[in-house]
Order: sequence, then structure tokens, then C-alpha cells
Amino acid sequence: MPCIAFLPGEGIGPEVLAQARAVLEDLRGPGFGFDAVEVPVGAVACDAHGHPLPQATLAAACAADAVLFGAVGDPRHDHLPRALRPEQAILGLRRGLGLYASLRHIRIDAATAVLSPLKASVVQGVDLLVVRELDGDVYTATPKGQRIAAEEPFAGDAEGFDSMRYAAGEVQRVAHVAFRAARARRGQLASVDKANVLETSRLWRQVVSEVGRDHYPDVQLRHWYADNAAMALVASPRDFDVVLAGNLFGDILSDVASVLTGSIGLPAAALLGDGEPGRTRGLFEAGHGTALDIAGQDRANPVGCIRAAALLLRHALARPDLADRVEAAVLAALAQGWRTADIAIPDTPAHLRVGTQAMGDAIRQALAPAG
Ligand code: IPM
Ligand code: MN
Repeated sequence: MPCIAFLPGEGIGPEVLAQARAVLEDLRGPGFGFDAVEVPVGAVACDAHGHPLPQATLAAACAADAVLFGAVGDPRHDHLPRALRPEQAILGLRRGLGLYASLRHIRIDAATAVLSPLKASVVQGVDLLVVRELDGDVYTATPKGQRIAAEEPFAGDAEGFDSMRYAAGEVQRVAHVAFRAARARRGQLASVDKANVLETSRLWRQVVSEVGRDHYPDVQLRHWYADNAAMALVASPRDFDVVLAGNLFGDILSDVASVLTGSIGLPAAALLGDGEPGRTRGLFEAGHGTALDIAGQDRANPVGCIRAAALLLRHALARPDLADRVEAAVLAALAQGWRTADIAIPDTPAHLRVGTQAMGDAIRQALAPAG
């Protein structure tokens, strides 16, 4: 029986995770079951156990077949040293689980095109996947640090520095993920870099080209400068199939792509490491953060986290059939007009304006019984 580790975190994390878990519970039947563990992470873990990623939490995540993650982050912990901030739990989990590719799926259909900040005519039919390298780049390369004699007033020569670095092997493994995804989709890969200024990017570009030439000649590869790619993602997002980028550019472009949907509450991400297709070690999460301003008020949109559960079924538990059912149920509930506050429009009738729980209920109602 597969084991799923649930890591609620804080803010709206526990609320949306509860809805996603309820969807998974509804799928239980003769052909599907799972063991569940729930462990603390983020600011709540720091308050209770002195660390945002307690050893027991990392151990539970590593022992599980997949991790479903809520959200972490709390500005009340901003004064803490970097190693104790909630965000470090995210980075520690990525490292500890060996996750090196983040896949963010962005799909905009007729029912939700009107939510986009862009014209529906520009976004309707968008179906793109951002593949972000998750382990290297300026996030983790060393040296990294500060050279400051005394704080405030800063001397003019005080420095902060990070290193941008990629090894060919790091580029190759994530390039394979992106090329495979492109091959299974529409066969187009847009690789993003700043090869006009960065040596790291020149290597990136060469390695991605080589992987494509040697292994995926059927996939159409195009290289983009990051600034140009950001513009094109907004101006003509339908032109993209799979977008591949390093950790930093990918962080930014994942969010640019997400906002096309009209709410960061809608998309989900699969963070993957090694494994075989369908049985990849992974952490699955919504695209949004803790949204502390609406936490505990039954106002958060659970769609992102429920879609994350679908990605978990698809990528980690080898159940594409169940993933399809969950994704179809989400689309059905949205097409029926159910709206949490972040995706309500002035025309939304009062009876379709719902909270977190009722949105989850609507999606579970729409889950087709096993055929
Ligand atoms: C994300 C977040 C994280 C990142 C932060 C919180 C470390 O922005 O998951 O995209 O930059 O990777
Ligand atoms: Mn981010």
C-alpha cells in the first residue's frame, strides 16, 4: 500500500490540504488505498520543535512514496536567522528528497479564460508546462554570503554575493525531463537562458542542444533569452508548449505563467526527482503560498492543492486514471460556475460564491464514480 506524507504547514496550507486529502479519501476503494502520515513543517514546526524542517518530518517525507505539501511562510519569522526561516523547509525538502525538476501545469479553458488579467482571446486554450530546474543555480551554488564589517550604516564596500553555476550533469537530467514531457505533449520545447551575458547560460544552451540532438530529434527546440520569454509568455502564451528554465529564471517564469490563469490559487506543481515514469519520487503542491490574510476563514481556493493531489496520483502513484478523474472533476466544478473569492467575477451569482469547504465538496460531487 503506498504511503502519502501530508505536510500542511501554515496559513491556508492546512485548509486546502484538508480538501485535497478528502478528495484522495473519496477515491479509496477495492483498487486503491494509501497509508497516511501527517507531519509539521514551516513556522508551526519551528514554534513547536525549534526547526522549520524537523528531522522527523524529513524522515517521514523520505520514507513516503509521495508528499502532499500545503504552504509555509510567515513574516513573523523574518527576524530569525536564515537557517530557521520557514522557507528553508522548502529548500531542505527539495535537497533531502533529491528533487531537481519542478513541473507547473498551466491550462486555461473556456470556463476560466474570463478570469485572466489578459483578454480571454489571448489566453483561451493555453496549455503549457513550465519545467524549472530546482537544485542548482544561484539558489545553492557557492560561494554565497556577505562581507559586511558593521551593519547600518553600511560601508560602501559591504558586499552580498551569490554564485550562478550549473554542471552539465545538472542541466542534462532536467533537460531529459523537459524533452520527455514535450515529446508526450505537442513536441515543442522553449529553453530559457541569458546566453548573451552569462557563461552559465552558454553552457546551459549547449547542453540542452546536445541532449535534444542526441535523444529527441523529433522535439522542436528553440532557445529564448529570459527577458524575451517573459514578454512572449504574456503577449502570446498559446505559442508555448513546454518551457525549460534554470532555478532562478524558472522561479520567475513559473509565477508569470501562473498568473495568466487569473489566480495563483488555480495551478499546481509537481516537484520530481529520480524514478521511473509514474513512480517518481516527488513533492506536490499548489502554486500559492500561505496567504495569511485569509487564513482560517474558509476563503482559500482549494483547487491548486486538489490539482496537486492529481499530479501526485499521476507522477508518484502510477494512477493516471485517478488523476484524470480528479482533474476532470475540478474542471467540471469550475464549469458549473463554483467560485471561491479569488476567482469570483461580478456576474457570479451569490449561490455559486463559496468557501474552501464548499468548493471541495463541489469537486468531490463531480468525481465520476469508478467506471
Ligand atoms: C517557490 C518559492 C521558493 C523558491 C522560495 C519560498 C524559497 O518562491 O516555491 O517558488 O524560490 O523556490
Ligand atoms: Mn517562487
